[in-house]
Amino acid sequence: MINLITAPRGTYDIMPDRALVWQWMESTIRQVLLSYGYGEIRTPIFEHTELFQRGIGETTDIVEKEMYTFADQGKRSITLRPEGTAPVVRAYIEHKLYGVAPVTKLFYLGPMFRQERPQAGRFRQFHQFGVEMIGAESPVADAEVILLAHDLYHQLGLTDLEIHLNSVGCAQCRQAYKTALTSTLEAVADELCTTCRLRLDRNPLRLLDCKSPSCQAAVSKVPPIQDYLCPDCDHHFKGVLALLDQVKVKYKLSPKLVRGLDYYSRTVFEIINHDLGAQNALCGGGRYDGLVEACGGPAVPGVGFASGIERLLTTLEQKGKLPELSGAPQLFVLPLGEQLTAVAFELATSLRRQGFFVELGNGTKSLKAQLKSAHKSGAALTVIIGEDEWQAQQVTVKIMGDGSQKRIAAAELQKEIASLISPLGKKYQ
Ligand code: HAM
Repeated sequence: MINLITAPRGTYDIMPDRALVWQWMESTIRQVLLSYGYGEIRTPIFEHTELFQRGIGETTDIVEKEMYTFADQGKRSITLRPEGTAPVVRAYIEHKLYGVAPVTKLFYLGPMFRQERPQAGRFRQFHQFGVEMIGAESPVADAEVILLAHDLYHQLGLTDLEIHLNSVGCAQCRQAYKTALTSTLEAVADELCTTCRLRLDRNPLRLLDCKSPSCQAAVSKVPPIQDYLCPDCDHHFKGVLALLDQVKVKYKLSPKLVRGLDYYSRTVFEIINHDLGAQNALCGGGRYDGLVEACGGPAVPGVGFASGIERLLTTLEQKGKLPELSGAPQLFVLPLGEQLTAVAFELATSLRRQGFFVELGNGTKSLKAQLKSAHKSGAALTVIIGEDEWQAQQVTVKIMGDGSQKRIAAAELQKEIASLISPLGKKYQ
């Protein structure tokens, strides 16, 4: 027996019924983001590995163990993008967008790849949409980006999500905090989990969000990062909070929120749906004032977020907020007898060219069998072409919902159909 080849672990197929939901989700996201003034950017699925090493940080989990990296035929190290911010920043620099306008607002939507342990809400190929506002320094930009995520979820009917906020300071104040963190935690290094013992030297901030109870106990002895913010970072953070207060958006201060990517500075945030279980972050983001420079561009600040689309769909499903979507054809054309197949084919083609979603019945089958197929498909109308009717250049239009039907002149058919349903697609000229 030949071994069955299945989709790789952590990946999945989106089948036609489910694809309807994705199409709806993607077009809704695009509409909202365009209306907030973000232009869509589509970057390659793979990039030079160095971009992520430099951008995300060598000591992050993503770069250390989660990237799909391979050498291409030219022996260049290539990585499937694990996230969208570094590629957007690379494109921003490459296309010299800093010379075009002081602030650039871009959004993206597409697959990302991380070799994590798959579980509910965590995949190896997953999808994100994200926004990046590059060039804006003021706390207004941070507040706007957080509000965009909040408002987008609200528009989708998600009103009971939690915004978690923190500031990780700038390179200077973060360094002071890291030093304090390391010296406090070195004294209790034996109590830390193995991963955190390694992190202590390399990336001590990551200890803050370790889930192990012994690490959490050790970390609780360390003062919050807020105590170490320099006056500018403190002022900036308070500015963001004041703006959110101004528009009455609730948030929770989360002093241990540091995020898993090294490019952040100052504001970081996540929006949480507690009903999602362990992987409960619908989106995450923050400010990355040093990233453009670190990737070889000018010293331009940036702020943004990305949202996992799978987790968003699960949340919408959980809360009954997904629309009813139908993949049913609008009408079936049923030829009664093989000799009428060409006539039915011509008719179906012309209706499709008018933008209607049309299925063609099988003329070798009986009327009863063809009507059964039409019913099963969920079509709203059928057009029945019978031998005698056709001799008289007539057809029957049947409304499947109530079973009513009427005979009309074939020449009147398009007008009749257009009076009953509207085309789904564009007209073919
Ligand atoms: P992130 O927190 O790594 O941030 O990912 C953002 C969101 O993507 C998460 O909150 C989650 O919803 C989703 N996500 C991440 N990993 C997976 C996975 N393995 N399976 C399913 N969903 C997942 C970033 O990617 C940053 N680039 C966000 C950003 C944009 N910061 C500034 N601008």
